[in-house]
Amino acid sequence: MDANDATFKDIIAHCKEYGYIYPGSEIYDGLGAVYDYGPLGVELKNRIKHYWYGWMTRLNDNIVGIDTAIFMHPTVWKASGHVDAFNDPLIDNKDSKKRYRADVLIEDQIEKHLEKANKEVTKAAKRFGESFDEALYRETNPRVKKYLDKAEDLRLRFANAAEANDMAALKQIIEDEGIVCPMSGSRNWTDVRQFNLMFSTQMGSVAEGASELYLRPETAQGIFVNMLNVAKSSRLKVPFGIAQVGKAFRNEIVARQFIFRMREFEQMEMQFFVRPGDELKWYEHWKEKRMRWHQSLKLGEDSYRFHDHDKLAHYANAAADIEFKFPFGFKELEGIHSRTDFDLKRHEEFSGRKLQYFDPETQEKYVPYVVETSIGLDRMFLAIIASALREETLEDGSTRTVMKIPYFLSPVQVAVLPLIKKDGLPEVASDIRQNLALDFAVQYDEKDSVGRRYRRQDAIGTPFCVTVDHETLEDNAVTVRDRNNMTQERIPIDNLQQYLLPKLSMSEAWKKTM
Ligand code: GAP
Repeated sequence: MDANDATFKDIIAHCKEYGYIYPGSEIYDGLGAVYDYGPLGVELKNRIKHYWYGWMTRLNDNIVGIDTAIFMHPTVWKASGHVDAFNDPLIDNKDSKKRYRADVLIEDQIEKHLEKANKEVTKAAKRFGESFDEALYRETNPRVKKYLDKAEDLRLRFANAAEANDMAALKQIIEDEGIVCPMSGSRNWTDVRQFNLMFSTQMGSVAEGASELYLRPETAQGIFVNMLNVAKSSRLKVPFGIAQVGKAFRNEIVARQFIFRMREFEQMEMQFFVRPGDELKWYEHWKEKRMRWHQSLKLGEDSYRFHDHDKLAHYANAAADIEFKFPFGFKELEGIHSRTDFDLKRHEEFSGRKLQYFDPETQEKYVPYVVETSIGLDRMFLAIIASALREETLEDGSTRTVMKIPYFLSPVQVAVLPLIKKDGLPEVASDIRQNLALDFAVQYDEKDSVGRRYRRQDAIGTPFCVTVDHETLEDNAVTVRDRNNMTQERIPIDNLQQYLLPKLSMSEAWKKTM
């Protein structure tokens, strides 16, 4: 983190104070990993959605949108593999009654061995000073080697157990390593069990014979089952894409880090249907395009990196994450997956319906292959606010809290401020507010000194403050203050809309991705 970046705690507190995000059901002490978006939060969220959805469906004439139901036929989730394999391995401590993910306990243990090795290296670096050769020390020092070997052996053992879905082997690792419960410090563990992450509910009353349904854990399946409907009704030819923004639900056991891992969240997914054999070419295409979309937000050139998966899911022939440098380190923000024809073939098998596309160019029928881009809207929200919020020291030594959200995404785009609350200035300011509101999200504020109002607008991330002063009554012009550099310009009221439009427009940012 840079010196002027806010801490994670500051970000959470700021979000609550200014109406971006509140803990869900707060007056009942909250509900784990569920959050509500406040007045500014919902504006920012809607703009991010538009920046993604508009980019997908307007800038690509072969991508269309869809909005499918959260409830789907229960067999969908058998076909997709979620009923059998969308699991976390869980273990309970009998003394603290706390539940943990067994894989997380083991990964933390690997980390502990590595930390011990690092500590030895740091100590030695201090002792030897400039002549210290770290690489050599890591290879040759017996104590460092012991910790590194332990970490590597454990990683291998864990990978084998996880690969084989062997819950008893995971439990054995926890016992052999002497892993203790972080709460009770005891080793009194239950067996490891698989726990399905889907929420279920009933449709219909018991008397009518209720059937068990799931709240969708991803939006993608709504796209797969509608692939032919969309292709036919929109007269699309392969390659084409279907984009969707919608809620998804996962009963995350270790839900933490604010809106990074939630139980109810939103996804923005696009499935791109291609000719079999062309999928790896399109996979590379979407990897590159999605990274350009991210870079257009200017959250920091070094804030993103690709993580190519070595170990692929059985249905994928290539997969990568776009990781973002969150306040707690680089973590997955978006996934790009070449999913072959796995999903469509499984739906053919389970529904008994053909999901084949007739290619007029090759005169062949086939099940298309799929390249998916899948990003969490809430994670994108967190990435933006985490990189936007900062405490700045100004030239005169005073400080300001400012949210440097990209201008075109800011929840309030323009604030209109009469210098004082009399002499006809509020009336002129109200007229300006009314006119600008046709094109922008505008806030009118007449309370407190103008300096304090500037600070308030900086704290919520408003890019432009328009101040009406006594001169305005004579020259019909206003002062426009820019949030980022705090410069001020005198602009005629009649030119305001023209002046602000290009500065607040999404299309300028979109152009940079083309
Ligand atoms: N259809 C593919 C799919 O759902 P995923 O990696 O499980 O893939 C895609 O999820 C994206 O959804 C992730 O990269 C992340 O941004 C977001 N996501 C997943 N689980 C989440 C959770 N519990 N809370 C918030 N966002 C989540």
